Amino acid sequence: MPNTGLKKEHMIDYAEYMDLYGQLESATELFTYYRSAMQELETRLNMLNDYFSMYSEQNPITAIHTRLKSIDSIFEKLKRRDFPVNVQSIIDNLYDVAGIRVICPFIDDVYRVSDKLLKQDDIILVEKKDYIMFPKPNGYRSLHLLIEVPVFLPPGKRMVKAEVQMRTIAMEFWANLEHSMRYKKDTDPETMKEISEELKNCALTSNELDRRMQEIRYRIEGEQLLKTEGDQE
Ligand code: GTP
Ligand code: MG
Repeated sequence: MPNTGLKKEHMIDYAEYMDLYGQLESATELFTYYRSAMQELETRLNMLNDYFSMYSEQNPITAIHTRLKSIDSIFEKLKRRDFPVNVQSIIDNLYDVAGIRVICPFIDDVYRVSDKLLKQDDIILVEKKDYIMFPKPNGYRSLHLLIEVPVFLPPGKRMVKAEVQMRTIAMEFWANLEHSMRYKKDTDPETMKEISEELKNCALTSNELDRRMQEIRYRIEGEQLLKTEGDQE
């Protein structure tokens, strides 16, 4: 029996959870496609990083992290969104089984890299959520791309869904701290409220920092940066 990370509210769905668990244990091929999609995207992003580094001292990508969604999180999301709990439903409905996080030094790097990635004609953009232009009410900023990428494996070519989250180092710093604090459940509500307010203020400060660093960069490297856009469209 798996040591489930099942949330309390899903305990009543235990049988359904076990059923999905069984289905996924024999769905190793499916996860191979998801892992390959992450590798494919990581390679393409590394190639863009290499290309852009010809023109600038600073690489536009600082780090790339990939993660495969756990069975517990898959189950939790299917339930939360009221999707059927089976393998086909995962394939049809979830975009974040394969997750890729791209960390960039500057805001304009996020857009330069994402534009070039999306120009690749075999990648399908399904949805772009620009929480940099339009931050979430709690202050969260990031660019989210829900995409489909072709994966070629012996059983055949498949378009595989993936979520690419792109953000600056400052946004990553904030999001990681905010995430870890959100799950400190034993904090009393009044303190939680104060912490949320303070986190929101920190998000504004980190946004201000990103903008000022960007400004400095334009002053130092402006002309060089424009040249990198001169490649074939
Ligand atoms: P789920 O939250 O996964 O159901 O997706 P969604 O459809 O609400 O999409 P959204 O773009 O809001 O969030 C997708 C992912 O972005 C999350 O799983 C987190 O990794 C990240 N994210 C979104 N909002 C926040 C936030 O407020 N704080 C932090 N730290 N991460 C966030
Ligand atoms: Mg969400």
